[in-house]
Amino acid sequence: MRSQILGTGHFLPDTVRTNNDLAQLVDTSDEWIRERTGIRERRIAPLDIQNSDMAAGAAKRALEAAGVPANEVDLIIVATVTGDHPMPATAVLVQQKLGAPNCPAFDISAACAGFVYALAIADAFIVTGRARRVVVVGSELLSRVVNWQDRGTCILFGDGAGAVVVGPQEDESDRASALLGTSLHTDGSLAGSLMIPGGGTAKPVTAESLDAAENKVFMRGQDIFKVAVKNLTSTCREALVKGSIDIDQVDWLCSHQANLRILDQVASRLGIAPEKVLTNIDRVGNTSSASIPILLDENVRSGKVRKGDTVLMCGLGAGISWGSALIRL
Ligand code: COA
Repeated sequence: MRSQILGTGHFLPDTVRTNNDLAQLVDTSDEWIRERTGIRERRIAPLDIQNSDMAAGAAKRALEAAGVPANEVDLIIVATVTGDHPMPATAVLVQQKLGAPNCPAFDISAACAGFVYALAIADAFIVTGRARRVVVVGSELLSRVVNWQDRGTCILFGDGAGAVVVGPQEDESDRASALLGTSLHTDGSLAGSLMIPGGGTAKPVTAESLDAAENKVFMRGQDIFKVAVKNLTSTCREALVKGSIDIDQVDWLCSHQANLRILDQVASRLGIAPEKVLTNIDRVGNTSSASIPILLDENVRSGKVRKGDTVLMCGLGAGISWGSALIRL
């Protein structure tokens, strides 16, 4: 028994913040941001939109695409590091907004690797027969945890959500839709390279911690950059081995969108042609756990990625945690 993706969806807030808008806030320029990251603009959620609203919006679209009514959902997993509240999980609010009563719903925290982690968990529930209709969401409202005075981080991130519905494989032929392989890793020794240091139980919020912006994203960008290329490449190779797929058989690289230079280097090391590399970082920036499912859904809806295509997904972020998933759509 294997699992497969039955439908995809995404939600992006309408408000656009361009690089030139950011140049009004911090000492930066459109040219610097585009050259160093590939980002031109990102979406920002207005204050009346919460993470769970975006997550539910993406999940509703994925359910519609899958033809699955909400009352058939038997598990909801939300990958996020920017949930509505420290407690309860954002997934429970998504359950309420979808109208999927009494199914288990929980969040997982693996930052930019969150979507592939959540997909691997959904796969485990399905192949062991514990669930048949799983909603997997990656959703982030990073604009509310970014330090808008730190030019090293605020230029990178954006808001949005993406979702897939996962179910058991319906047809077991060689070319059937399937999740072919996953690979997950964490190296906790680099936890300090990318974190929100305050606001948890280790450093509860105080007036001093707010002044020091400890409740905002802190990142050593170059540390992350160096490990990203190496680890994303190796995790992709592991998923290919698990799926018994040669790199030439991969139709699309659907990677987490952190930096266009990281993406180019990973594709080149893997030997994937540039025309097979999906990107939207120029329009949406880094949306952490949401970035892979947003990119996937945009390309499914545009008709570029089609049923039967082989898609290699990978992500790396705070933890550091990283992983990959190889699917035949
Ligand atoms: N605008 C203009 N200058 C900037 C800037 C900005 N927004 N941000 C940093 N700089 C400056 C730095 O202060 C530094 O100046 P200095 O040489 O005078 O000290 C110079 O640009 C180079 O900084 P550096 O940090 O070396 O730049 P970089 O090429 O590494 O790019 C990142 C910075 C953040 C874009 C890059 O490190 C990166 O993408 N890292 C990975 C981040 C990532 O993937 N994070 C999330 C994982 S999900």
